[in-house]
Amino acid sequence: MANTVAGARSLVARVSAKAEVGARRAQAALLAQRIRRSSPARSGDGVRLHLGCGSVHLNGWCNIDNEPGSVADVRWDLRQGLPLPSGIASRIYSEHFFEHLELDEGKRLFSDCRRVLRDQGVFRLAMPDLGRIVENYKGPWRDVPVLQDPSFAFIDTNAHYINHVFRAWGHLYLYDYDDLELRLRQAGFGSVTKQEKGISGHADLCGLETRAESWLVVEATP
Ligand SMILES: C[S@@+](CC[C@H](N)C(=O)[O-])C[C@H]1O[C@@H](n2cnc3c(N)ncnc32)[C@H](O)[C@@H]1O
Repeated sequence: MANTVAGARSLVARVSAKAEVGARRAQAALLAQRIRRSSPARSGDGVRLHLGCGSVHLNGWCNIDNEPGSVADVRWDLRQGLPLPSGIASRIYSEHFFEHLELDEGKRLFSDCRRVLRDQGVFRLAMPDLGRIVENYKGPWRDVPVLQDPSFAFIDTNAHYINHVFRAWGHLYLYDYDDLELRLRQAGFGSVTKQEKGISGHADLCGLETRAESWLVVEATP
């Protein structure tokens, strides 16, 4: 009797695991279809992915975010990676997004970005800079652009400032340049270069940043 119950349980577990894999595959196929539709490849170009878009909709890009209030073309939890074929993307961009993931989640997504980016593609990232935040803590913390908003008047010391930056806005892991470069290289990117905000050697990547606090901007290529 006990053997029969155990056998039935294991059969149910196998069937539901199979159903889960099937459902995940179907969801991934649907996502790939929606991404291709919102960023159609032109004349052999790959798709353009904008990760964690929030309220910033880039035309000609597939804007992805998991928040219902965002302007995303595709709502998707990026902690689940990019269920897309390898080498399908020519551009991947994100501003103030990766610091909202835990380090391990970020590392997994960096690897997936490398996988879906084609060999001539570019991955551009803009984010706060931990190095600059530490400098601000030791110096002109009151001059930080976001603190000029009266709603941040409650931040009244440099210690309060740095604690806030680490814990507020859903921040989970802040990068400085060396750390970000290492993570991108570990993910398989062959070249990582510092960039100025709004400026790129690639015309289509110029002028994308929208935030004063995009202090750390890099481009990574395979
Ligand atoms: C600080 S906002 C930046 C939005 C926009 N890039 C900008 O610079 O204004 C971070 C965005 O990342 C999105 N986000 C956070 N975790 C996410 C996840 N796991 N999957 C998809 N989007 C996520 C949030 O919903 C939010 O829109």
